Amino acid sequence: MEEKLIKVKELLKKYHQEHLLTFFDDLNSENKELLLNQILNIDFELMNQLYENTKKPVEIDIDSIEPMPYVDKSKLSKEELDLYYKKGVEPIKSGKLAVVTMAGGQGTRLGHNGPKGTYDLGLPSHKSIFELLCDTLISARNTYGVVIPWYIMTSNENNSDTIDFFEKHNYFNYPKEAVHFFKQGELPMISTDGKILLNENGLVKLAANGHGGIFESMFKNNVLDELKSEGIEWVFICGVDNVLVKMVDPLLMGLCINNNILAGGKSTVKTGPNERVGVFCKKNGKPGIVEYTEISEEMANLRDENGELVFGDLHMVCNVFNIKALEKIYKNKLPYHSAFKKANYMDENKQIVTSDVPNAYKFEAFIFDAFTALDDMAILRVKREDEFAPVKNATGVDSPETARKLYTDYWSNNS
Ligand code: UTP
Repeated sequence: MEEKLIKVKELLKKYHQEHLLTFFDDLNSENKELLLNQILNIDFELMNQLYENTKKPVEIDIDSIEPMPYVDKSKLSKEELDLYYKKGVEPIKSGKLAVVTMAGGQGTRLGHNGPKGTYDLGLPSHKSIFELLCDTLISARNTYGVVIPWYIMTSNENNSDTIDFFEKHNYFNYPKEAVHFFKQGELPMISTDGKILLNENGLVKLAANGHGGIFESMFKNNVLDELKSEGIEWVFICGVDNVLVKMVDPLLMGLCINNNILAGGKSTVKTGPNERVGVFCKKNGKPGIVEYTEISEEMANLRDENGELVFGDLHMVCNVFNIKALEKIYKNKLPYHSAFKKANYMDENKQIVTSDVPNAYKFEAFIFDAFTALDDMAILRVKREDEFAPVKNATGVDSPETARKLYTDYWSNNS
């Protein structure tokens, strides 16, 4: 350990982060080792660069952005629907589809004490979000006669709580051997003056590195190799927080297959120009998303000859990728975006700092920044009331209350 400590001290001196060892002597030997390893794993050059970026305005090349073509499900003819269904159902029935749910987020806006997927939506059944998602896999097993492998991406923070919840609920009666968990990566959080923070235990304060971390973590955790060896060709990836998500949908996959495109995404129309969501677009001719914070007022309000918003197809975080697309994507480093968040940490006087207002930077990669590595994506526009009931905020828009209503209305019309 002595040698490691010397190396760490040199590193910290070089990057002006010596405070990270302030409580080293108070730690037990296990945590001493852990802290040293954490520090050796930090990419300090990257952290410096990310800190510098927090001081710069986010630049977006508006001129590179064009509308993204889409297919509107409600306008498809019966022949088209049948064709896409037939092409999409074949890989499902032959066991070539796996599903990944990204559940590594902190769910700070919802404020539930536990992983977001464990949240009881308040339905008469008191099912958790995880169970509602699992119901779609059980129904797919009944429809297509296959058990679809279900991968769940967690983070260090919520991994054991997530697994315990599945164990406690007997995997919601889905075959346990078909459910797999893997952890996403993390990055240190920093203060407004660029110092890496320590948590209450005197260790580096790490936070999940965003849903864009999925591609790298699928690779690092051998998920990609496992999928390939199981003969999986298509992977549906979604967030944990849309209780109307169709995790197994032949249509989107059939559209991709028919058009020879290696990835697809679901969209739904924005409620209005000011809805705070990212929308599909083309950036320099490649598929992408433009965030509500990046789009100009003029672009957000732009309408076509039919009166529809030109940039109106919101990204539902429901995407399907051919394994070849995933192999291409994970090799690209995605940019990190900074988010100014409320964080508890331990200061240099061994005091726990808490705050009611954001006080620290967290860095996240976004899944959609990966889309630009692809030549094209097939976008299927679906009806909001059929497929989009997000649980983001504790109250108001996109809250358990709105999601519960959407869920109940949908199932009272479609059961
Ligand atoms: P959000 O961006 O809505 O974040 O994630 P969140 O953590 O759920 O909520 P807030 O912003 O803290 O309130 C969209 C989806 O991406 C997953 C989330 O779990 C959710 O399913 N996600 C997000 C990850 O898996 N990892 C991350 O690092 C961030």
